[in-house]
Amino acid sequence: MESRKDQHVRLFEKTYQTHQTNDFDSVRFVHNSLPELSLSKVDSLTTLPFGTWSSPFFINGMTGGSEKTKKINESLAHAAAATGIAIASGSQKAALKDPALHDTFRVLRQVNPNGFIFANIGAELDEEAAKQAIDMLDANGLQVHLNASQEVVMPEGDRDFSSWLKNLERIAHSIDLPVVVKEVGFGMSRATFRRLIDAGVQIIDVAGKGGTNFITIENQRRDRARFDYLQDWGQSTVISMLEAQPYLDQATFFASGGVRHPLDALKGLALGARAIGVSGIFLHTALSSGSEGLITLIEEWKQQMNEIMLLLGCASLDELRRTDLILSGTPDQWARLRGPK
Ligand code: FNR
Repeated sequence: MESRKDQHVRLFEKTYQTHQTNDFDSVRFVHNSLPELSLSKVDSLTTLPFGTWSSPFFINGMTGGSEKTKKINESLAHAAAATGIAIASGSQKAALKDPALHDTFRVLRQVNPNGFIFANIGAELDEEAAKQAIDMLDANGLQVHLNASQEVVMPEGDRDFSSWLKNLERIAHSIDLPVVVKEVGFGMSRATFRRLIDAGVQIIDVAGKGGTNFITIENQRRDRARFDYLQDWGQSTVISMLEAQPYLDQATFFASGGVRHPLDALKGLALGARAIGVSGIFLHTALSSGSEGLITLIEEWKQQMNEIMLLLGCASLDELRRTDLILSGTPDQWARLRGPK
């Protein structure tokens, strides 16, 4: 029997679309013909509450838990180590129950001994599970994912989400490493930010709609799709970052979900994110071109991000956050309907 983790990767690849449009296309920078800056002065390092990262993007949480996904983790971790960017593990829940699976996650640390690694669990687990997941990887931080939409679409998924906020509160107060609460591709709202911040969560990855879609993937896992009409569920990454505007000084935001190239990443940063998580295109590249292909892509992203910042006349991410953005389409409508607060 093919494991659920292997099915996810296979169906991810089957449904992956290279040129999918999304709400990042409804955000535009204003071209300026006089940048008055030299590339040598551009630095895209990002300042985070726990230190600085020399690049403002990272490989977001994806996989582990089977022999095939161990190989994928090895490839992703090799690219993270070679390029010096941070990486997150996929959900370690299965390995917390079955020590035979530890290796499929530990490989992240074995091939990337000095890199920044996030452990990953779901909010249905408590602070004890969080500590075990961190120890398994000797991790530098923890991601806790919120995947209610995915669970509901799975017939075998959880149907009781009533302990999540309490678990998050306990995790936020008992783990002394950076804790990131993230979605899995359906975005977040103001009401969610308020509750997370009140629970003590300091770093939030909005992980919005626009890229990998777990409702689509779960629908493909069975002969008769459940909820095939629900594929447009959730808030895009751009809309989630618009929702985040009133909270930018109360928490650190990461933007992820549907980031296809360095221009999308820069739009997320200009909307106030301190770092950009990338899953789909990096996984697709690792699967199709191996870790060497992924290393080449990541190095191109680093270079091109600095070149576009040069074009915008921005020497730093602080300056990028102050550039004008023009919204159109759904993000524009959303911003008008929601108002500034
Ligand atoms: C994911 N994602 C994910 N997230 C998480 O927190 N824990 C997990 O175990 C997984 N598993 C997983 C498997 C696969 C195959 C993919 C592609 C993704 C979700 C991921 O972190 C991210 O939120 C979404 O993929 C949206 O980003 P992209 O893919 O549009 O860049």
